[in-house]
Amino acid sequence: MLTPTEQSCLRQRRHQLGQQFEGKALLWSGVSPPRNFAANHFPFRASSHFLYFAGLPLQNAVIGLEAGQLTLFWDEPHPDAALWHGPSLSRAEMADRIGAETHLPLSAVPTGAQQAATVPALSSDTYQQQIEWLGRPIPPINTQGSQDQEANRDHQLAAAIIQLRLQQDEFALTQLQQAADITVSAHLQGMTSTLNHTSEAAVRADIESVMMAHQCPTAYASIVTVHGEVLHNDAYPHALASGDLLLVDAGAETPLGWAADVTRTWPVSGQFSAPQRDLYDLVLAAHDACIAAIRPGVEFRDLHLLAAQTIASGLVDIGILKGQPEVLVERDAHALFFPHGIGHLLGLDVHDMEDLGDLAGYGAGRRRCDRRGLRYLRLDRPLRPQMVVTIEPGFYQIPALLHNPDLRQQYRDCVDWDRLAHFEDVRGIRIEDDVLVTAEGCQVLTSALPTQRAEVEACVQGSTA
Ligand code: GLY
Ligand code: MN
Repeated sequence: MLTPTEQSCLRQRRHQLGQQFEGKALLWSGVSPPRNFAANHFPFRASSHFLYFAGLPLQNAVIGLEAGQLTLFWDEPHPDAALWHGPSLSRAEMADRIGAETHLPLSAVPTGAQQAATVPALSSDTYQQQIEWLGRPIPPINTQGSQDQEANRDHQLAAAIIQLRLQQDEFALTQLQQAADITVSAHLQGMTSTLNHTSEAAVRADIESVMMAHQCPTAYASIVTVHGEVLHNDAYPHALASGDLLLVDAGAETPLGWAADVTRTWPVSGQFSAPQRDLYDLVLAAHDACIAAIRPGVEFRDLHLLAAQTIASGLVDIGILKGQPEVLVERDAHALFFPHGIGHLLGLDVHDMEDLGDLAGYGAGRRRCDRRGLRYLRLDRPLRPQMVVTIEPGFYQIPALLHNPDLRQQYRDCVDWDRLAHFEDVRGIRIEDDVLVTAEGCQVLTSALPTQRAEVEACVQGSTA
């Protein structure tokens, strides 16, 4: 059930969309794909644009939005389905639950749909249905807009939705805090149980068990790995060895679809080695500097460059990089070790609204830069109050970069390879928190999870610092 506050936020979202977008919008929730045979399905995840305005994850539903009014298009399950899935609400009851003014069977979607705008679905079955029912081609959302009138309407709808979803309302913030709290508990469970385990898989099981106990799936495939240099490593085959660092990037998704995205890196033994300590503190310094700089109006790209500068300067101090930190950053030398962006939008999606390409992440007139040190920056906008972003600097030794002959040649004067060899027990370190931009600065939604080295060690050792 949605609370009165949630209902009122949903009405407000629809009302605001009606003010920013004239005409009718149709949004599909999608269906879960079958696992090899028709009656066995992958878990269902509703489209985030649908969830944003409907609130509840109804399967195989379409909503119509026009001038703040909501129409639910949905078919009650066949009566036989009750045998397998239990009783269902009637369409009228479901409409009441999500606050829809009108409700109609799905077969009514095509009536008058020719003028409607939509957001193209990523799943091909739903996308084909959109094309068929709207009776027109639906090109992917083009970041630059489109000459074609209907595609342009889709673009305008996407732009209006983005303006709403960029800044989180009370409903969203409560959900995001819930996802953050459960994720913090899950990470703590992982940290405090690592000494009892001998494999990545067993630690992952402990972490995800906390999410499952709260009826939360993971918001993305958990990363629980002693090979943190593989940035999105989602396999868990390794045994834990005493000198390893374990990189855990795992986040819960609330039953209503809101995500957390948190990374911690801890020593399997409960104690960082001296090289691990130096590089951990360096990544933490970049993390802390970025969070301290967050406030409305700050360019997210400048936070990325601040992290790059902090890492370059720290690596010079440690002796891994050689030269002036500013020049090293200009030459993208830091990106040998910190090749990704400092973070991204967080909301209903872990990388919020990336189904729209860079339309949400990049402000008007901005495009991704091809520079190695900037090309994976997912967000390039000035921060606004009530945006939620991640801050996630890292240090990695990635063979594909460090053994690349062209890069070794390009940066031959920048890296002290002999010095780097002393840090071979650091494959990957990342520290990631979820941060709400406030009127004056920011609030770290995941601050209850320790980042300080001594506290992390104490947690793994099962005591308090
Ligand atoms: N949590 C994975 C990522 O942000 O890419
Ligand atoms: Mn992230």
